[in-house]
Amino acid sequence: MRSPLLPVSFACALLLSANVFAQDYPSSSKPITFVLPYAAGGPTDKAARDLAQAMSKAMGGHSIVIDNSAGASGSIGANKVAKASADGYTLLFTHIAQATLPTFFRNLPYNVEKDFEYIGLVSENPMNLIGRPSLPANNMVELVSWINANKGKINIANAGPGSASHLCGMLFQSTIKVDMTSVPYKGTAPAMTDLIGGQVDLMCDQTTTTIPQIEGKKVKSFAVTTPTRLSSPVLKDNPTMQEAGLKDFSVTIWQGLYAPRGTPAPVLKKLNDALKVAVKDPDFIRKQDAGGATVINDARNDPAGHKAFVMAEIAKWAPVIRAAGVYAD
Ligand code: MLT
Repeated sequence: MRSPLLPVSFACALLLSANVFAQDYPSSSKPITFVLPYAAGGPTDKAARDLAQAMSKAMGGHSIVIDNSAGASGSIGANKVAKASADGYTLLFTHIAQATLPTFFRNLPYNVEKDFEYIGLVSENPMNLIGRPSLPANNMVELVSWINANKGKINIANAGPGSASHLCGMLFQSTIKVDMTSVPYKGTAPAMTDLIGGQVDLMCDQTTTTIPQIEGKKVKSFAVTTPTRLSSPVLKDNPTMQEAGLKDFSVTIWQGLYAPRGTPAPVLKKLNDALKVAVKDPDFIRKQDAGGATVINDARNDPAGHKAFVMAEIAKWAPVIRAAGVYAD
């Protein structure tokens, strides 16, 4: 007969080894990698680098490096972390795509609910509708009339189906009832280059990366996606989409940190402790504020609050995405 003590002692051994491992975590010889699923120079990259700097400080200067594993609407990087060793050295930094890709993809190669440990949410970013500098419109009224006069000829850039830029652009098209040609990139940084060059007409992107381009007069800015105007000096004169007549239009992007499933609890605790120090770091707060973003400082900084929020966001966006009938695969 099998001894009932065996599984108990096995569980104790596992717990002990996780605790011993966590004592040494993070090992000074091993950097932590934040995998982020979009191109360098975009808003996710910026947010990840700001967080990496603040968390590194909170972890006594431990090295945190960035791996831009871009492509397939952000699913390549997320899948890489879902399949990585659960040792706390490979983490996923991503945004609302964690909640939209499960509906945009019918065959996503990972499970958002089961394949990750949730570490905490970090910030919320507004978005901004921008256009190429040569666009013959200077405000939302002129833009909507130009769009209506050029139906079938307008293209809109994004980072692939399910990305933040796609979600926002898709809502814009459905609200004004005009279809545009979607031009996907590996992130909004390469898309921004083409927008500035006039190869594409429009894009919705996060204000953390649109503000410098608007300030430099490289792109035209039309509206913000938040229910109220933003206080940023560059954007304070931009109307909200709702003020511009687009009823109920509201999109806010959130960013968070994840580990592969099975990462030991003491390691997750160290990461969560560092994240909570980082979100109170004045330098981190100042950088997010300058980009129009808000640092999250509530129950969503904790694993349970983070996961509950993402599950609610999946439920919120699924019917919107299904109604649009747009899929990535
Ligand atoms: C990026 O970092 O390139 C963007 O956040 C991608 C997106 O629009 O989702």
